[in-house]
Amino acid sequence: MRIFIAGATGAVGKRLVPLLTKAGHSVTATTTRRAKVEGLRSMGADAVVADLLDKDRITSAVMAARPDVVVHQASGLASMRSLKHFDDEFRTTNRLRTEGTETLIAAARLAGASRFVAQSYTGWPNERAGGRLKTEADRLDPNPPKNMTKTLNAIRKLEEMVTSSSDLVGAVLRYGSFYGQGTSLAPGGELFEAVRRRSLPIVGKGCGVWSWIHIDDVAHATKCAIEQDVSGVFNIVDDEPAEVSIWLPYLAEAIGAKPPFHVPEWIGRIAVGESGVSMMTKIRGSSNAKVKCVLGWKPIYPSWREGFQGLANAK
Ligand SMILES: NC(=O)c1ccc[n+]([C@@H]2O[C@H](COP(=O)([O-])OP(=O)(O)OC[C@H]3O[C@@H](n4cnc5c(N)ncnc54)[C@H](OP(=O)(O)O)[C@@H]3O)[C@@H](O)[C@H]2O)c1
Repeated sequence: MRIFIAGATGAVGKRLVPLLTKAGHSVTATTTRRAKVEGLRSMGADAVVADLLDKDRITSAVMAARPDVVVHQASGLASMRSLKHFDDEFRTTNRLRTEGTETLIAAARLAGASRFVAQSYTGWPNERAGGRLKTEADRLDPNPPKNMTKTLNAIRKLEEMVTSSSDLVGAVLRYGSFYGQGTSLAPGGELFEAVRRRSLPIVGKGCGVWSWIHIDDVAHATKCAIEQDVSGVFNIVDDEPAEVSIWLPYLAEAIGAKPPFHVPEWIGRIAVGESGVSMMTKIRGSSNAKVKCVLGWKPIYPSWREGFQGLANAK
């Protein structure tokens, strides 16, 4: 199969590209930086330097690759520093999710591709009411914190564009929160180091429910979606959604850090803003029943409990 991946050098891309080339697929992979071309070639891909926000450049790159499947994995999250100014931190990612997706879908059509697979996110976008676990059939949050509104709108737009196309079979992969090599929850990563420094406290009762996913499971699930002719939205998460009050102390112990502090919500609001407090106290987790049934995918790490144990050695 011929596969075009926009944004192939990140946490996901570095895991995904070798899986695809080893399986015999012909992969064309993009980076915006010349310095990363060799890395893509060493994973067996044809490398292209192209910015997804440069419509002409990306369109000609997709057309030259003549792919069967186009995959959108471009995001601007690597330098994310704080949850407080959420929409500001996501500004580039939101453009990549809206303008970028529009450009890539149009290019896929012109190039004669039949399928499209895009990265989305699950966790905080779930409605923060009712049960602790949501499926793809449940509605997204109708009333998100104000500073997450633009980001949620960009997610909605991406998902609508990908799944409403009549001439492309579109799959949206709503990844849970990443951990493992190359993500912010690995040694040197933002989240990992905050837990190690004891600077990520449990806010309020820590009732926010998180759905985690190991980066290797992200890559395997994505390969599965690329290889099958499926459309729709799929949660890519592990089997054990868990409250912050449960996973955060466990994580601290697993990486040899002291237990997290507890702070009341009003202090949390000053430190991490409305969005951060919501993620610590209100968000809901996500079910993976649909992807298991439709794609036949199963996580290698069914629970973050096993996955977190290996984190101290991940790079
Ligand atoms: N789902 C989640 O858990 C979540 C949520 C928030 C944050 N994070 C963190 O954010 C990261 C997400 O991993 P990821 O693989 O999705 O992202 P990533 O590691 O940041 O990689 C992003 C990819 O997008 C490409 N890219 C960036 N700007 C581009 C542009 N204008 N045009 C085309 N491509 C562009 C990058 O390529 P070049 O740099 O080579 O151009 C790179 O290949 C992890 O560190 C994760 O921990 C994850």
